[in-house]
Formats: sequence, C-alpha cells, structure tokens
Amino acid sequence: MSDGGDETSDSGPGSDGVSTADLSARFEANREHWEEMVEPVSVADGTAEIEAFLDGESALLPVQRREVGDATGDSLLDLQCSIGTRTLSWARMGATVTGVDISAESVRVARELAAAAGLADDATFVRANVYDLPEAIPEPPDGGYDTVVSNFGVLCWLPDLDRWAEVVAESLAPGGTFHLAEHHPIATALSDDLGGGAAGEISVEHPYFSTDDPVPDGDTHKWTHGLGEILTALVDAGIDLRSVNEQPFSPIRRSEAMVEDGEGRWRFEDHDLPLLVTVTGTRRESVADE
Ligand SMILES: C[S@@+](CC[C@H](N)C(=O)[O-])C[C@H]1O[C@@H](n2cnc3c(N)ncnc32)[C@H](O)[C@@H]1O
Repeated sequence: MSDGGDETSDSGPGSDGVSTADLSARFEANREHWEEMVEPVSVADGTAEIEAFLDGESALLPVQRREVGDATGDSLLDLQCSIGTRTLSWARMGATVTGVDISAESVRVARELAAAAGLADDATFVRANVYDLPEAIPEPPDGGYDTVVSNFGVLCWLPDLDRWAEVVAESLAPGGTFHLAEHHPIATALSDDLGGGAAGEISVEHPYFSTDDPVPDGDTHKWTHGLGEILTALVDAGIDLRSVNEQPFSPIRRSEAMVEDGEGRWRFEDHDLPLLVTVTGTRRESVADE
C-alpha cells in the first residue's frame, strides 16, 4: 500500500472505491491517534504494564504461551506491537523478535524498554504500516520468520483482511506458525463497556461483518471483521488452521462488572459471551504467488 497518489484501490473490504490518498489519510489519522496515546508513556515514568514487565512478569496470557509453544531460538515477528511488552516477553523466552508498528512513539518506547530489560540484542522495532511488509523490514530472516504473532486490538485498524493475511503468509517461513489473539468480533460489535456486564443490558452498537466504510470513532477510522472472514482470509492466503479457540475472558477490563482471575484474565460472572479468540495456523509449504 503506497502513500499518496490518486489512483483508486480495489484491493478489498474498506478500500473499494476509496482513493489511495483517502486511505493514506485514514492511516495517518489513526497513526496520529496512537502517537498521542503513547506520548505520556516513557520507560522512566513507568506504567503498571511497564513496571510489571521490568519486574520480570510476562505480558502474555497463558493461552498465548500454550498455543504458540516453545519459541526458544525462533525468529518471531509481532505485527502492530505497540510498546512491545508482549513482543519482548517472547524475547525473554528465547526468541529473536521483530516488532512492527505504525506509531513512531510506540517504537521509541519499545526500543527503550528493550534496552532497560537487557534485551536490545534480541529485539528490533520497525516503524511501518503493516501493509508495507515484508519489504519495510530491513533484514528479515532468510526464508521468512519461524513465528508471526499479532494480538489484542489489531484487526480493527486494517481495512483489507485479504492483503493483511497475504502479509502474514509472505512474512512466514514455510511450516512456520501464525498466532492471532484478538478481541472476539462479537465483543467488538457490542458497546465498549459490553453493557456493563448485565446480560439483559448488552446492546449491539457496531457492525459485525466487514463494511467498505470504516466505523468512525473520534478522529480514527476503524473496520469491523467477522470471524469467518478473518479465518477465510488466512486460509486463502496459505495458512492452514490448527485451532480456533473462543474464550470468555479478555486481557482488558472493558467494564466495571468484570473481575480478574489472578492471571490477567478479566471475565463476567453473569455470562460467558466470547471476549477473545485465538487462532493458530501453519504456513503452507507453498502459497499461490510463489
Ligand atoms: C491496541 S494496539 C495493539 C496492542 C499490542 N499488539 C499489544 O499486544 O500490546 C494497536 C496498535 O496498532 C497500531 N497500528 C494501527 N494501524 C496500523 C497499521 N496500519 N500498521 C501498523 N500498525 C498499526 C497502533 O499504532 C497501535 O500500536
């Protein structure tokens, strides 16, 4: 996906009939939003997330560690890594990691955090739009990454699932593992506080399936994607699915009514709607474009 230009993109949901200039403007608005979100954070100031990480805690949920398995010695790419606490948690477990994010502030904090944790030699952070990969990565491993991961609040920033899935497949080595841990699309369709947790009060505020037009949210542009659309995009791009697990918990407290279980998982006590979905897949030996 290029910056600027006036040609019309026809590369999938969210971009039908939208000029590449308009699409670039939307990415730019989203990037500015994330620069502002991260600006108050620095490793020196600390936040609960940063302090916990520097105290040696993993930022990964047990389900992520279990489903990806032993990443020791792996080259691992984290798409939309934010400030890198999860990326660096993989590095602490013995992986050589690369984190990619569109926000310069996120990448700056992630690099500071890597240095503060003594992991700078095992971690590279690149500022890039996901759609510009794998070319935007200066020195990708020969033959592709062993593991590609992406987690928590990533797909809503992406208009074109098919191209995203191709980026995943093109970045992976044949036989490599892809792991997605994402807010469940059902939860994304509900109100932000999930109706405060009382099952009877839950309301649907956003589309469930992909739409051409983004869902406005302040100054940002977000896109919704149904679970079937996400899985089909991956399969079409060359990722064979190994497991798809829906979970009734979230790494984020989205409502006052949620309670934490001691392992970083927030859940409702009065219903078990899926709040998280994890997808594990293997990159086929060859994919269509090879
Ligand atoms: C909710 S955060 C992701 C959280 C992170 N994966 C974690 O586990 O802590 C969403 C991130 O996506 C990034 N982002 C949004 N659009 C992007 C794009 N087109 N390409 C790359 N990064 C993008 C934002 O800068 C932000 O850091």
